[in-house]
Amino acid sequence: MAKPPYEVKPNESASFVVWNHTSVTPQVRAQSLDQQPRCIWFTGLSGSGKSTLANALEVALQLAGMHTMLLDGDNVRHGLCKDLGMSAADRNENIRRVAETAKLMVDAGLVVIAAFISPFREDRARARQLFGVAQFHEVYLQTSLAVCEARDPKGLYRMARDGKISDFTGIDSPYEAPDSPEVVLDTAVHDVDTLVLQLLEKVFPERWSS
Ligand code: ADX
Repeated sequence: MAKPPYEVKPNESASFVVWNHTSVTPQVRAQSLDQQPRCIWFTGLSGSGKSTLANALEVALQLAGMHTMLLDGDNVRHGLCKDLGMSAADRNENIRRVAETAKLMVDAGLVVIAAFISPFREDRARARQLFGVAQFHEVYLQTSLAVCEARDPKGLYRMARDGKISDFTGIDSPYEAPDSPEVVLDTAVHDVDTLVLQLLEKVFPERWSS
């Protein structure tokens, strides 16, 4: 049998992929849900309050009749990202996957809340680039390492200090604070209700204004 003139390897097939334009666009989907979709991206140390605040924000948005989805670091690592660990390369891939997922959900018309340590500036910048300018809101929980470690809700800081876990953010793995996040919150100073109100006013000024 004659050899084909070229070899097509499965992992090169992406170069033959085109973009299929769909009749129902992200704008149409957003209109049918009667909302302006966006991605609210929480970043901060483990124990800084991301999951608590993300959860309270989603409750507030649902009560206001909005259509939402919450992507939480620990939860996503049970499924979509269960094959990834905590090395820098695996965190890069974790954030790439969840950012792409958040983008698909925003294109579906949803308000997406993402809560990930996302310790690297470059990963967060790459995530931001997927979205329109007014669609991505980076929320930095600036809770200090000392406060997070004192809270230690999952006992992980203790384990990291005892050398039972490696690559732990803030202990033996870096956290790069954002340079210019849209919102900065301090969970050591304000309670959850106050912080949710601050978020609503900053991220949804057209709907909540002080
Ligand atoms: S990220 O760095 O890739 O963004 P992600 O937010 O998905 O992290 O997951 C962090 C969660 O994994 C933490 O809330 C914590 O419960 C758990 N965890 C387990 N090991 C580590 C570790 N070495 N460093 C940080 N968090 C860890």
